[in-house]
Formats: sequence, C-alpha cells, structure tokens
Amino acid sequence: MIEKVRKAVFPAAGLGTRFLPATKAMPKEMLPLVDKPLIQYGVEEALQSGVPNIIIVTGRGKSAIEDHFDVSFELEHLLESRGKKELLATVRAVSDMINVSYTRQKEALGLGHAVLRARELVGNEPFSVILSDDVIDAETPCLRQLLDVYEFYAAPVVALMEVPRDKVSSYGIVDAEPVAHNGGRDRLYRIRNLVEKPNASDAPSNLAIIGRYILTPEVFKSLETIEPGAGGELQLTDGLKHVLRSRPIYGYRFEGRRYDAGDKQGFLEATVEFALKRHDLGEKFRSYLKGLTL
Ligand code: G1P
Repeated sequence: MIEKVRKAVFPAAGLGTRFLPATKAMPKEMLPLVDKPLIQYGVEEALQSGVPNIIIVTGRGKSAIEDHFDVSFELEHLLESRGKKELLATVRAVSDMINVSYTRQKEALGLGHAVLRARELVGNEPFSVILSDDVIDAETPCLRQLLDVYEFYAAPVVALMEVPRDKVSSYGIVDAEPVAHNGGRDRLYRIRNLVEKPNASDAPSNLAIIGRYILTPEVFKSLETIEPGAGGELQLTDGLKHVLRSRPIYGYRFEGRRYDAGDKQGFLEATVEFALKRHDLGEKFRSYLKGLTL
C-alpha cells in the first residue's frame, strides 16, 4: 500500500524584497490576486488535490498569514449584523477551510532550510511542498497531477516546465529522460540530475522545477547532510540530488498555465487574466481593457 500524502508544506518566510515597499510590513504571500491572497490559491489547490493538512513555515512579520486563516469574530459579527450574507460566507470559508499548523524559520537561509523546519510537523511520512509564488491555473490541480504520478510510482515527484534558455539561471534545472506514461512520452521524466540556478552554458536542459513537490521523508536527512549551495543558501534542489543517490525521482511536465507571481510582470499578468476569468468582473474589465489606447 502506498502511503497517502496528507500534508502540504508552504514555505512563507522569505523577505519579499522584489515587492518592496508593498512587502515592508506585509508578507508577500498576502499580496492579493484580484481579491484573494497568493497563499490562498496554493492552499485551495492542496485541498482540491485531497491534501487536508497545511503546514506554513513563517518568519518574522508574517502574523497576517495566521490571522487570515483564523476566525475573525469582529468581522463576522459586523457582516452578520449588516446582513452581508455572501461576504460572511466568503470570510468563513477561509477559516473553515484548513487544518493549519505553523512553524517558524527564524532566518531566511534557503528553501531547503525552510522545508527542514517542517520536519517535526511532517513526521515520517510522504508530504508535498507548495511555493505560493508559483500560481498555477489548471483544469486538474497541478498538485493532483503530481500525486497521480506519486501514487503510481511511489517515488518523489517534482513539477516541471520548459523555460526559455536565457531564463534557466532563475530555476532548478533537471537532466531527465522521458518515460512512457498514460500512452504518451512527453510528460513524465525520470530525473538523472538536478542543478540549482545553473548558467545557461552549463544547464543540462531547459526543463525547470516549478514550485510543487511530492517528497518522501528521507529528504530531511539529505537536507541535514548537504552544504549550502547557490546563493549561499540550503537548496531543496541539492537535497533532492542527494536523495537521488538512493532512490529514483520523477518529474512531471504538468498541464496548465503557471504564473510567476513572485515577479512583477508575472504578478500583473496573473492579475489581468484572473480578473478576465471572473464571472462578476470579467465582462466589464474586458471592455475597459479594450478601450485603452495601447
Ligand atoms: C525555487 C527553487 C527552484 C525552483 C523555483 C520555482 O527558487 O529553489 O529550484 O525552480 O523555486 O519557482 P526561487 O524562485 O525561490 O529562487
């Protein structure tokens, strides 16, 4: 029997320097895409994928995230007394949504370090990691697509996407061979090697790791063993490279559109496209955009 993935870890202790000054007093995970904070998109993806327990790795100045997923009695009372039923339901849905635990990463020492902080809350079982900067719009949630692979191969799986050659140095890049799966050979890969943020000239491919992972608990031991890597940080990619010595790891080129909401351009694209898709805003917003002189 394959052990079920019940937990999703959300590293959320980064400093968000790319969005200063907005992130001076507010965590970047709370920046809204239309009207929902970034992290809520990731949390909803975990829930829709059948992963019910959320672990958020927070840092200093991140209490807004905890408040967001907590009950707000004052707000609920106010909305109730004013008869704002729909808004009340929206607000309640957030706090009812998750079974959430928090752990602290005192210093921002890298993604691998953040994942290691979740070790006690995860325990000795497979788990997932979601980076809320990577917002993925997909018919089947991206995490669910990875879980389907995990449930078949009982091995760690990372999300992959092809990126332009001149962008490889912003990502973890894999060297991988295609594997036949579900009647095709163009989505599933068996990973031979992983490199965090390589120069374009040394990159083994243009297949980049995107922020969704299914991991097994031996990654914690690996993260404890390895030394800091790119940028002087403890890298999850290096931890996976260490895991690869003892077991296979797969990569899945997921179906869906990914937005890099950790980047201003990507954030703006996501904002516009999500607004256009909204039933309550789309039509009006479309005609507004059409009227712009560009
Ligand atoms: C992290 C990972 C990297 C991955 C990327 C996906 O990098 O370290 O391997 O490709 O997320 O978004 P970051 O964007 O945090 O620098």
